[in-house]
Amino acid sequence: MELLHFYNRNLFLLVFDCSEYRRRHMALYGSHDIFRADNQQGSAIRRQSAREAVQDAMLWLKDGNSVAIFDGTNITREQRRELSDYCLNDMGFRILFIECVCEDQELLERNIIEILHYSADYKNMSEEEAVDDLRKKLEHYMRQYEPIDAGLETISFVRVENMGETVTAHKVAGQKESGILGYLSGMRCLPQTLYFTRHGESEYNVLGRIGGDAALSPRGQLYARALADHFNSLPAREPYTVWTSELRRTKQTAADIRAPKRAVRALNELDAGICEGLTYEEMQERFPQEFAWRDQDKLHYRYPWGESYIDIMTRLRPVLSALEDEHNVIVVGHQAVLRCMLGYFLDAKLDELPYMNVPLHTIVKLTSYGYKYKVEMTKLPVECVDTHRKQPKNCSINRTSADALTTVPSHYDTLPSNLWQNSAEAQL
Ligand code: F6P
Repeated sequence: MELLHFYNRNLFLLVFDCSEYRRRHMALYGSHDIFRADNQQGSAIRRQSAREAVQDAMLWLKDGNSVAIFDGTNITREQRRELSDYCLNDMGFRILFIECVCEDQELLERNIIEILHYSADYKNMSEEEAVDDLRKKLEHYMRQYEPIDAGLETISFVRVENMGETVTAHKVAGQKESGILGYLSGMRCLPQTLYFTRHGESEYNVLGRIGGDAALSPRGQLYARALADHFNSLPAREPYTVWTSELRRTKQTAADIRAPKRAVRALNELDAGICEGLTYEEMQERFPQEFAWRDQDKLHYRYPWGESYIDIMTRLRPVLSALEDEHNVIVVGHQAVLRCMLGYFLDAKLDELPYMNVPLHTIVKLTSYGYKYKVEMTKLPVECVDTHRKQPKNCSINRTSADALTTVPSHYDTLPSNLWQNSAEAQL
């Protein structure tokens, strides 16, 4: 189960992947044989797994969530009728079928290779065996397949051909359904590579201060150079575009990357309102209650005259939609903003998002496969402070200062004049 694009167009979506449920019933995937229509044991396992996935989906909806995606192969009219009867008549939830058809041989081959590399079913097979197995599985499905037919079935559906080349809709009504149809119509399922990095270490980071519009520290400047060297020396398959915030530290970090740049206001760091420019220690000293409230619920906590993580997610929505259509974009951002962006692409749990570790001087590369993303982190060899503060154990408003400050990362109290010497300058 994963949280997919959790705040896309205000919908809370969760994917219930039938094959994950199936794998729970089988220690090891054997072969395509379980997909044969006349394999009774295989069919029983697959039916049972589908039932479990649908039941979990119903529980998720009953909990008040918006949309459950049941990811399975409902390829016969009988299967679709049963599913529709259960969800709509027994449980009272509307159901929209999405039929994905791919007749483009080139796309199909690409999908097959992608599935082989990422599906848990094939992790113990050689590529040759896996290709053969997958083709046989497809043949079993093709024999059973009954295309959705508006004349014979009374269901709402969207048919997506060749990964979005043609999208047709039948009896699509309702706000959520229209949102999904809009999303599917604009979807571009091309392989995507996106890069994210925080700005280089800033003078405020060195001092443990939050917010503001400080310049890069000498080590931050070294990172900017190392980052530019990294991207400028990668084989130029396709040109990069760099998106920064409107703040100095991100622009300075991106300055030497040879690529067009866009400064996007929505990428600015969390506005800490009355706490802008303070250290965590000063926040505890001046506003101990605010500091404790934030620790109690960091996701929803809004700084007085400032923002919460939920606020950032709201303002990031258009940026994330735009980014979904892009390839080879390097986003140079900030700690809180990148937590939200990476959380979106990596389906992080909402309450874990404000504590995600997105260290300075690290490139995060996301590569798409299907609707998921693979993540690779590359730390460049330039020293920097750590700005990640874990949630302390004691979040009560009556806690002592020592308790409130236990997890504050160490920092300098004044800008050291010898920061160049402390850095990895010698190595660069
Ligand atoms: O400390 C760097 C920083 O980017 C601050 O500007 C910002 O307020 C903070 O991180 C956000 O992190 P957290 O939500 O963990 O305080």
